[in-house]
Amino acid sequence: MQKEAFSSSSSKRFTFYLLAIGSACGLGNIWRFPYIVGENGGGAFLLLYIMLSFTVGLSVLTAELIVGRAARASLHKITVRLTGHIKKPFYWVGRLSLFISLVILAYYSVVSGWVLYYITQFFVSFFRPDTNAYLSTLNMAVLNENGIMQFLLASVHLLICAFILMYGKTKKFEKLLTYVLSFFVFLISILIYTSVSLESTTGVLRFLFYPDFSKLNLVSLGHAIGHVFFTLSLGLGLLVTLGSSLNDNDHIPTIAFRVTAIDTTISIVALLIIFPVAFTLSDRAMTDPGLLFESLPRLFMKIYYGEFFGFAFFLCLWIAAINASVGLLDSLISNTTERFRQASRLSSAWVVVAAALLLTLAPAFSGTFLKRFTLFEQSVIENIDSLLINYLLPLSVLGFIAVYFLFHKESERRDAFVSTDAPASVSLFRNWIWVLKWFAPGIIILGICLQLFVVIRSAL
Ligand code: PHE
Repeated sequence: MQKEAFSSSSSKRFTFYLLAIGSACGLGNIWRFPYIVGENGGGAFLLLYIMLSFTVGLSVLTAELIVGRAARASLHKITVRLTGHIKKPFYWVGRLSLFISLVILAYYSVVSGWVLYYITQFFVSFFRPDTNAYLSTLNMAVLNENGIMQFLLASVHLLICAFILMYGKTKKFEKLLTYVLSFFVFLISILIYTSVSLESTTGVLRFLFYPDFSKLNLVSLGHAIGHVFFTLSLGLGLLVTLGSSLNDNDHIPTIAFRVTAIDTTISIVALLIIFPVAFTLSDRAMTDPGLLFESLPRLFMKIYYGEFFGFAFFLCLWIAAINASVGLLDSLISNTTERFRQASRLSSAWVVVAAALLLTLAPAFSGTFLKRFTLFEQSVIENIDSLLINYLLPLSVLGFIAVYFLFHKESERRDAFVSTDAPASVSLFRNWIWVLKWFAPGIIILGICLQLFVVIRSAL
């Protein structure tokens, strides 16, 4: 009996890890992180990012999980409860997180559509006599110049996610995810081996691990903190919901540390795979959102049966992206159903999918219809990315931190954090509270102010 209870609690924990790591590791690590590091000059930014991940990111992640387990409710419900309680306008925290979730879902679907396009291209290359010549011509131009195709691919992605969620295929999908993640690790090992044997590796290692602080600029702090929140999926209440499935005896800070460490490792591995190829392309390539898509096909050309590995790689990446999107979609549908009591889950799903589809129009047509609408010398899609990840997400986390301190009493915070099995947790407790109360808000506000300063200066 005891054994059964143990195995059910450990399988629950396994599912938790799978979902938490699955939601953290995705396009953010493999697609977004490399070009953000390239844009911000390499090593010094990487160091800043790692420091912020293990201070601010880890602390907020711990707090989200703790709140979720204590309240056994979603962030939106918690904020509504708090609002009734102390009559303060904390409602906006839940609302803002839902709004950002919807826009992220739309934006993420467009990029997932790019991944889908690459899957089809690798598939087509199986049947070409000149496989390598074909792969060498793969680039983003076709997508950039075809808004309708981007929109259609994003729609296919969204509809598949909705299908998995609505027709109860999530359990099957979780099983698939376990295999996919293991296979992904295998693929990544092959890619690292191939990539670091390229000539440019010494230069890449210097670029990444020899920090040149003069390369940091005023917006780097905001970019680093925004990406930390994005990659760990913080500020949206997703981990609050996941935290509600944890057992009372699970030590949350340890779990949060593991998730952060795995996520950061995958991001660094992505750099080691992509940069050696990017270095041989051009300087411009390293700062371009198309970096992953332009460079990886060239790496696969160097591997035996590269077209099959390329196909498998983008397929795994897409499955990881589905997992992240399903999490967002689930939280949006549950909240819509909760808000409009008469609505069925299916009709809420249609409303959310329709709203997300509408929102994909802007990033999808950014390179065509909306090409003229540049702001601060950036295209529509770049402005959406920046507004979402560098400004709104940090603001949402700031709101969450306020909710956290209102929600929990000092003694409850200590009980949730300190464990007799982990002696270091006693001394870490004070540091955690300090980071959460002072350091994280300070960094978020400073990051936003510095970016605003740069924007205003360039507008004048
Ligand atoms: N963390 C995911 C990634 O790195 C992105 C994401 C953000 C997913 C927010 C869900 C919610 O790809």
